[in-house]
Amino acid sequence: HTIFLKDYAPTPYSVVAVDMDFKITEAGTRVRTQMTIEPRPETEPGTPLVLDGDGLTLQSIAIDGAPLMMVAYTTDDDGLTVVEPPFRRFVLETEVNLTPETNTKLMGLYRSSGTWCTQCEPEGFRRITYYLDRPDILAPFKVRITAPRDIAPVLLSNGNLIDKGEAGDGMHFALWEDPFPKPAYLFALVAGDLGSITDTFTTSSGRKVDLAIYCTHGKEAECLYAMDSLKRSMAWDEKRFGREYDLDVFNIVAVSDFNFGAMENKGLNIFNDKLVFALPETASDANYANIERVIAHEYFHNWTGNRITCRDWFQLCLKEGLTVYRDQEFSSDERSRPVQRIHDVENLRITQFPEDGGPLAHPPRPDRYREINNFYTTTVYQKGSEVVRMLATLLGEAGFRKGMDLYFERHDGEATTIEAFLKVFEDATGTDLSQFSRWYLNAGTPAVTASDSYDAASQTYTLTLTQKTAPTPNQPDKPPFVIPVKFGLIGPNGSPMGWTAVAGGTVKDDLIVLDGDSVTLTFTGVANRPVPSLLRGFSAPVKLSTNLTQQDLLFLARHDSDPFNRWDALQTVATQLMAAAATGSQPASADVDALRQAIMDTLGDPALDHAFKAQVIAMPDETVIARQIGRDVDPSAVAEARHALIRAIVGPVAERVEALHAELQVIEPYSPGAAQAGRRSLRNGLLSLLTAGSDRGAALAEAQYHAASNMTDRYAALAISAHNWTKAAPALLGDFRTRFGGDPLVFDKWLVASSQAPDDAVIERLRAILAAPDFPRTNPNRLRALLGSFVMSNPAQFARADGLGFRFVTEAAAEIDKVNPQVAARVLTGFRILPLLEAGRREAGRAALEALRNQHTLSRNTGDIIDRILAG
Ligand code: ARG
Ligand code: ZN
Repeated sequence: HTIFLKDYAPTPYSVVAVDMDFKITEAGTRVRTQMTIEPRPETEPGTPLVLDGDGLTLQSIAIDGAPLMMVAYTTDDDGLTVVEPPFRRFVLETEVNLTPETNTKLMGLYRSSGTWCTQCEPEGFRRITYYLDRPDILAPFKVRITAPRDIAPVLLSNGNLIDKGEAGDGMHFALWEDPFPKPAYLFALVAGDLGSITDTFTTSSGRKVDLAIYCTHGKEAECLYAMDSLKRSMAWDEKRFGREYDLDVFNIVAVSDFNFGAMENKGLNIFNDKLVFALPETASDANYANIERVIAHEYFHNWTGNRITCRDWFQLCLKEGLTVYRDQEFSSDERSRPVQRIHDVENLRITQFPEDGGPLAHPPRPDRYREINNFYTTTVYQKGSEVVRMLATLLGEAGFRKGMDLYFERHDGEATTIEAFLKVFEDATGTDLSQFSRWYLNAGTPAVTASDSYDAASQTYTLTLTQKTAPTPNQPDKPPFVIPVKFGLIGPNGSPMGWTAVAGGTVKDDLIVLDGDSVTLTFTGVANRPVPSLLRGFSAPVKLSTNLTQQDLLFLARHDSDPFNRWDALQTVATQLMAAAATGSQPASADVDALRQAIMDTLGDPALDHAFKAQVIAMPDETVIARQIGRDVDPSAVAEARHALIRAIVGPVAERVEALHAELQVIEPYSPGAAQAGRRSLRNGLLSLLTAGSDRGAALAEAQYHAASNMTDRYAALAISAHNWTKAAPALLGDFRTRFGGDPLVFDKWLVASSQAPDDAVIERLRAILAAPDFPRTNPNRLRALLGSFVMSNPAQFARADGLGFRFVTEAAAEIDKVNPQVAARVLTGFRILPLLEAGRREAGRAALEALRNQHTLSRNTGDIIDRILAG
């Protein structure tokens, strides 16, 4: 059934304190929980106490030490009800036995490579003990863990270690206390035989914090970059947001079976090991950047998420959107701001725009859900961050910081809402944000149209902006959003163009605020026809279309002072040409020549850095081209048109591109830093162009693969070969597999590269990989590397006209769903592209989903995704 935001009500009882006692053995885990409970002032005597429980079997239950009679409580699939609890403060004690070793859903307490670990967000704690498992129930926790010393010398939980010692029979114990009241989703426990690296950080007020990262023995050296990232994150949050760490210890544990990236449990973050481990030989530059980003993200949650948490799961974006904004800002400060911005926007366009424009569209703050796990989405995370970014743009840096300071001051220790978040900015700056709040409440990507004209006689420049948002599921009408449009006018010589007066709407410095359906601005005193640079820095998450000609766009690509728009202008030209070609209108050769010239000029510009150039020459993703076409898309035609344009661009300049590729080789020892990484990314971008666009690339890629001294260069050469299915590709894939066979994270890279092959036999090969008896089919990373990347990044094969790609995925999902519903549901979200496809493929995709729904008993996770896609 569906849960609605409007039905929110506090629980009749609150939890004052929690005491847990875990006894862990190879045979199973016994969990005893003592909760101190209190009726709320407004609660009527006799109101039942309803606790959540999932897959638990109650062993014993007592109140204030006295066992309960059978008639005093009931249990069912959803939990435990105490029929008539005392009308005063009391202690409820329950006991359950768990078998973490058979927990393949990886929610609650489970074992990963022998290590006991937990994942509780959002509703995993109820798989550990009966509890009021919702984020508005905050309590301090004390956790005692007893386990065999030989198999679990390391015993960790949240907060500070207050006692430890022998427990007889080869057992030992640890007692942890977390003084900060927290919701159960932030609970964590780890027990195992782990190695570690340690360090310390002294906060600005002088608190010395012991830092540790725990991992499989032998992997310690691979954790050093993560530790370095952690210390930089701690320093950055003090400097940029005035936020200090608040406990004496901060622990991170890397585990190999994990449903997503990482988890911000108070004082004990648990990570998917792919976001911790890095060595130059086995991790790429992109992996390093991701580790830095996610370490920062989870650390930043300590204030935005843990100290201030969500009242209910509808508010997820309160912590996730804000924390993504914070991690993006961190990466921008640590690396190149423009490149980071381009990167983040590219990601938004490739993942969030398709979500927002399809059957799974939902607002950043949804108002209903059937399965909350299906709402940890790119909309909540990435669009949520864009909404915070717009706030910062509208309020200015100082106003935004004032609001954030007030947020921390006013809501510390609370479980709160998006409304409360917006209110602090209103109160701190005196701004009315009621219309702005629509960004949180409404789904869909606004389409903004800009058209302009210039009248030389009166030196008047007119710019009209309009907005329109298409209906999304459950939201037929879209009132106008508040859209901050950063802009500049550029004169014929490439320098900024001024005006003496502007009428018709609000323009403040370089910012137009479009808050109605349309605005027409009249600039007077404009000496020449300007080219407008709109939406600088991607100041709002909208789809902008303009009346600019290709010539205007390439002018922007050369002259705009805003690096984002320089990149975007060139990308727009390439996307438009590819979209046109894919729908039957071949680009004029003059247009291709002009684009090529702009690309080569960018490459030759000494003022631009390598990482930026790499972004400029990266050709638009097939998804972006498909979105530009909008409907009745044939993904094979898109892939072909993309390829053809790359050939047309590169052909005449292949020799120069090859020379540049050679020049850019890095000879100094590997460093993951932005400068070297930027150089490598440009070099590999050139290799990609050459391989797709000329006959010179294939051999070069093969040679680079063999000569590479780091994973970035080797993997780039492999992926480029596989993606273009060069003659050497099968042999390189074979070599890569044996060379790194033993390292699961490198195996994932092999799976990703394998899933990208465009040839018609790719599905057969993937089927065989998945069916191999030793394929680790319960590990989320392996499954996502194989299926997730096939679905998201190989649209031509996934959406094959004969339906083979769709069926391959639904058949695999049916099996995975029995083991781990979250992974199955996530893979199936790839079907959200169906409405974009031409009718034949669309029907084949629907048929595959319908067969899956009809022939199997599905989890709520996958059932929900399929129903929404088929309804949309
Ligand atoms: N809170 C974690 C993070 O973003 C992720 C938890 C994901 N949970 C889920 N059910 N998908 O840092
Ligand atoms: Zn997060």
